Amino acid sequence: MLTKELNETFTRVGPGTPMGELMRRYWYPVVFVRELDEWPIKKVRLLGEDFALWKTRDGGYGILQKHKIRAQAGMAQALGGMVWAYIGPFPAPELPRFDVFVMDGVRDIGHSVLPCNWLQIMENSVDPHHVEWLHGRYFNFLAQTSGFEMPSAFTKSHVKVGFDAFEWGIIKRRLLEGQSEEDDDWKIGHPMVFPYCMRVGGNGIDQMQIRVPIDDTHTRAMFYSTHNPPGLDSYPEQVYPFDYQYLWRDENGNHIVDYIEGQDVMAWVSQGEVADRTAEHIGKSDIGVTMLRRMFRENIAAVQAGRDPIGVVREPHDRIDLPCERSKFGAGAEFALQWIDRGSSRYSPHVDMLKKLHIEAAQARGEMVPAGGPS
Ligand SMILES: [Fe+2]
Repeated sequence: MLTKELNETFTRVGPGTPMGELMRRYWYPVVFVRELDEWPIKKVRLLGEDFALWKTRDGGYGILQKHKIRAQAGMAQALGGMVWAYIGPFPAPELPRFDVFVMDGVRDIGHSVLPCNWLQIMENSVDPHHVEWLHGRYFNFLAQTSGFEMPSAFTKSHVKVGFDAFEWGIIKRRLLEGQSEEDDDWKIGHPMVFPYCMRVGGNGIDQMQIRVPIDDTHTRAMFYSTHNPPGLDSYPEQVYPFDYQYLWRDENGNHIVDYIEGQDVMAWVSQGEVADRTAEHIGKSDIGVTMLRRMFRENIAAVQAGRDPIGVVREPHDRIDLPCERSKFGAGAEFALQWIDRGSSRYSPHVDMLKKLHIEAAQARGEMVPAGGPS
């Protein structure tokens, strides 16, 4: 349970707020490279402030605050098909080149602006049990009542979960029934990348889930996937990553809940614009949430003391590899196809090509080709 004041401290991201000052120490993806190639200037909103972002004649990028007499300039830079902005104090840190954004593979990015505060999405990320309930049991119920096949990867119960703070955030581990501590889900796990991302993947898909705080009550939730199933020598050429909006509400305004991220969006958005944490009950399975809040407190304090918070990179580098399980939920190649069919990638304009990629790779590996291929 949080006091009203502490809940505000944790959720407000505008200029001059404690969290806002912390969040201004990081880079954020704000537009696609494709968009500025099509039209060289775009209005963007980030951390409660409005900016103009543009592409220069020499191929660089610039960003400036709107409607300010003495406008503050930030910095903008391209990585992984997205243009990233930094609007904090100088000297600006390096833009972290996380593995998903630089590795080979086919890039596919679903995104939508959700009417909720970014922190409720991050707190959901450090609750591994929700997979079993919100996805597993709820999916099972829907599959039975609506007559589709339950994605098998989400049916196993959690034996235990673990959390470890590390240099980029929090590593989450889970041990599912039938697994041992030697399985990737426990031994390697996957990280919540402080302060606004989560790295997931497995079975030939690497993904960064990105939650850009637009303001206190709007978050752009992006699923940035790099498809790189082992067994292929090369991937189809892409000028730009595929980018598209995933849907989360139907024409009647109801949540679309027959896919994984649609279920997550329901959990995030239905808590209200800013979740009321004055009435919450933190239980034993919420260790991850408690750890994340402590990490925010410590790093707000670090910024106030004039230090860099965690995850701020000052050294130039080529690539930052994050720990992430390769074999997820003990599921084989069929996991990739279920991920696509029952995930936000179902809205990708290139969904059949993505599935074909995984099927061809499985064939090249000499595996049985699972059902669920392109129709
Ligand atoms: Fe989820």
